[in-house]
Amino acid sequence: IASNVLEQFSLKGRVCVVTGASGGIGSAVAEAYAEAGAEVSLWYNSNPAAKDFAERLSKEHGIKAIAYQVDVSCAERVKEGVQKVVKDFGRLDVFVANAGMPNSAPLLDMPLDEVKQLNSVNLDSVVYCAKYAGEVFRKQGSGNLIITSSISAHIVNVPIDQPIYNATKAYVSHLGKSLAREWREFARVNIVSPGFFTTAMGASDQVRNEAHRMTPLGRQGSTREIKGLYLYLASDASSYQTGSDVIIDGGYTL
Ligand code: NAI
Repeated sequence: IASNVLEQFSLKGRVCVVTGASGGIGSAVAEAYAEAGAEVSLWYNSNPAAKDFAERLSKEHGIKAIAYQVDVSCAERVKEGVQKVVKDFGRLDVFVANAGMPNSAPLLDMPLDEVKQLNSVNLDSVVYCAKYAGEVFRKQGSGNLIITSSISAHIVNVPIDQPIYNATKAYVSHLGKSLAREWREFARVNIVSPGFFTTAMGASDQVRNEAHRMTPLGRQGSTREIKGLYLYLASDASSYQTGSDVIIDGGYTL
């Protein structure tokens, strides 16, 4: 570990995967990693904006950045995606399991198909990403998994009733802590639990008004304000940190 703290934050030569990277938190994280010198594989599902974004990151920061279309709710696609990263980049250092979707309704108004879909996108996908990235980490003897959870993993008193979403996030938070122990000899695992950020997911008027009213800092976070945390967790600056679930919410959960 470098003694100079700024050097500890460098990701030069590291290979990072970010899922849900076509916008919102995921694209901000991919940008942070490119700015810190990493090579980045941006995973997207249906929005190909990630392709142009990868090209831009590559040009602006002189790093290798490639967008892959991977439906993370499908185990086979995730397995192929991880194999492709190792083939194209030669290794895998940091995997950010960030893709997710919001809850459309309270449980009593929600068809079971939607419950299944939410579990599959928010929860099963993280298990698949962890399993296949973890296999590479174990083989390499090093690795770093970061999971995007939510303050909803910790409190349910948010402006919308979203029990299944809340439960998926509680699951991935606990999964991350458990994996930090399971993988203690070769990889670190940490969790980020955002409050209300200005992305497609946090955009409804109801959410915005409540978030502004209830957040001590008086506003939603911008995705620029989450880049530093993901960089810290991906880099050697956090080398003694594993199994932590870091809340970043402008004080909402105080
Ligand atoms: P977003 O909607 O911009 O990003 C979610 C991304 O996940 C999208 O790019 C979407 O294409 C991708 N995705 C959805 N299903 C997928 C699938 N089957 N395969 C691959 N990709 C898929 O929203 P945001 O806010 O950037 O969300 C990122 C993460 O942050 C999510 O896990 C979300 O639950 C979490 N989060 C967001 C908060 C917010 O206020 N924006 C608060 C707390 C947590």
